[in-house]
Amino acid sequence: MANIIDGKLISTEIKDEVKAKADELKAKGIEPCLAVVLVGEDPASQVYVRNKKRACEYCGIKSLSYELKEDTTEEELLALIDKLNADKDCNGILVQLPLPKHIDENKILLRILPEKDVDGFHPYNVGLLSIGNADLKACTPAGCIELIKRSGVDITGKRCVVVGRSNIVGKPVGMLLLSENGTVTTCHSRTKDIAEVCRQAEILVAAVGIPKFIKGDMVSEGVTVIDVGINRLENGKLCGDVDFEEVSEKAAYITPVPGGVGPMTIAMLMNNCVIACKKQNNI
Ligand code: GUN
Repeated sequence: MANIIDGKLISTEIKDEVKAKADELKAKGIEPCLAVVLVGEDPASQVYVRNKKRACEYCGIKSLSYELKEDTTEEELLALIDKLNADKDCNGILVQLPLPKHIDENKILLRILPEKDVDGFHPYNVGLLSIGNADLKACTPAGCIELIKRSGVDITGKRCVVVGRSNIVGKPVGMLLLSENGTVTTCHSRTKDIAEVCRQAEILVAAVGIPKFIKGDMVSEGVTVIDVGINRLENGKLCGDVDFEEVSEKAAYITPVPGGVGPMTIAMLMNNCVIACKKQNNI
């Protein structure tokens, strides 16, 4: 039976570290501040935004909340971003995705100043990530790396397999594993014999969005498994991209869903807020 990686515990450790850094800044008269922007009334987004504001409170980061109506125009949202970009007291800007269909998400994300892009989604920050030089790393991928490292698993030289090639998880997690000296293979829907590629993995990151896609016969003994999937089943229960019951029989380390990667995203967002604040204040 595998060691279960406790994302809740590790995320609390990280938030406590962030809180200590925020306290140091406040002792210097600087209060880290995050602006959280939500457009519309998507219930899942409302929950995420509430949790982000709560995490700010926990860490001693000031949060500015902008809850805009569903029919907000692209121009209005861009004007808000311009205002927040110019606000010296606002260190990070988070626009909750998805946005309503009439707003061009890419245009919005491009407008956020890279130094305030605490999601790490701006192409400038994605570019820095790809050359191993990013301050603001995408939160979920950075959270995956922390889970691996803080479990005592060394990435250097390991065969790492990432299943999924999305811009927000698969691609950046592959780049981060490479920066950590892993040997990285990325699989996707067109990959031939995906099971065989997965069986080569010493570290496997699943980010495909298909419930229980990774089965017991797709992994080798002793593998470390990071499950990024959050899928809602018909019975209302959450389940990952990994068949936990089967895979945990063979893995050395495995993240559960919920309680694995999920809580890490917000912890890494808080960490990015403090990093952005320090950089903007030349600390
Ligand atoms: N929607 C779902 N996940 C995220 C995230 O990490 N950041 C933002 N901005 N929106 C999201």
